[in-house]
Amino acid sequence: MNLAELTARFRDAVARSSDARALDEVRIAFLGRSGAVTEVRKGIGKLPPSERPGAGKVINEAVQALEAELAAALARVENAALTRSLEDTSDVTFPGPPAKIGAIHPVRHVAIDVARYFTRHGFAVVLGPEIETDANNFDALNIPPDHPAREGLDSFYLRPDLVLRTHTSPMQVRAMRKHGPPIAIIVPGKAYRRDANDARHLFMFHQVEGLMVGHGIHFGHLKGMLVGMCRELFGPSADVRFRPSFFPFTEPSAEIDVKCPACAGTGEVAAVQCRTCGGSGWIELGGSGMVHPNVLRSVGYDPDAVTGWAFGCGLERIAMKRHDINDIRAFIENTPGFAEGLA
Ligand code: PHE
Repeated sequence: MNLAELTARFRDAVARSSDARALDEVRIAFLGRSGAVTEVRKGIGKLPPSERPGAGKVINEAVQALEAELAAALARVENAALTRSLEDTSDVTFPGPPAKIGAIHPVRHVAIDVARYFTRHGFAVVLGPEIETDANNFDALNIPPDHPAREGLDSFYLRPDLVLRTHTSPMQVRAMRKHGPPIAIIVPGKAYRRDANDARHLFMFHQVEGLMVGHGIHFGHLKGMLVGMCRELFGPSADVRFRPSFFPFTEPSAEIDVKCPACAGTGEVAAVQCRTCGGSGWIELGGSGMVHPNVLRSVGYDPDAVTGWAFGCGLERIAMKRHDINDIRAFIENTPGFAEGLA
């Protein structure tokens, strides 16, 4: 092999090398101790003595040039590898996916909003036991043992005299026995009824009870506070209706309806029956009324000296209307993302 041939082959091999390792093999094969260039050097010995130094010099210069080409090729492939690795690398300054921290449950959200409204008006928030005496749950609320209203509640009894409270109203009794008038409280909490779970019923649900008793308290105060509560929950233009009703522990009694926020009371959305109110234009939130004199008497208050109002609303019911949820079971199914989606 002569020098020109070696140079040509070397360049060819360099051109075909795509990484540092391949280039190193080229170096060993051509410029290494037992490589091609050594073969060419051996040829010097066959030349006439006068030509040997010149030939040696030519070979050395050629080797230097080839080494320079090799170094340039090495820099080229390393640069290309670096560029590729930079392109592959993720942007480490890019923000990571947000941590899942959950969200406040929509029922709790309603309770918080109701509590914020009433505490702003001087009411205290109190909590009561879920296991109640039947005396507090019924008798003290003017529901004697033979009263048909007891049957309708179909309660969970733990003992003949202990029941999972069927409403938050027994806390009216506990609070009034503990504190003399005047009194202004709300009571959020769980209530239990022997209902099979379906789209509209849960055997365990939430209510908020309200109670205000003092000198000269009248139905106007009840209306004013509940209209205010509905505006807090459904917006400043919420319209409220009081529909005559019956509860053993209030007289007179009224159901509280709020004008449907989805259809503005028309019962229709885009010419079809409103899903939120079922076409009636009104949403039923709960019961209310003036505290019955028998209830005041049962807790030691004088019905000739003080009067009061009370109400009880279902929290799931309010949350369903707020978020257009059609099946109450959604609140207890723990579907991932349910609460986050409504927050
Ligand atoms: N306790 C009643 C219910 O559960 C609601 C209510 C509370 C009505 C207070 C009047 C006064 O349906």
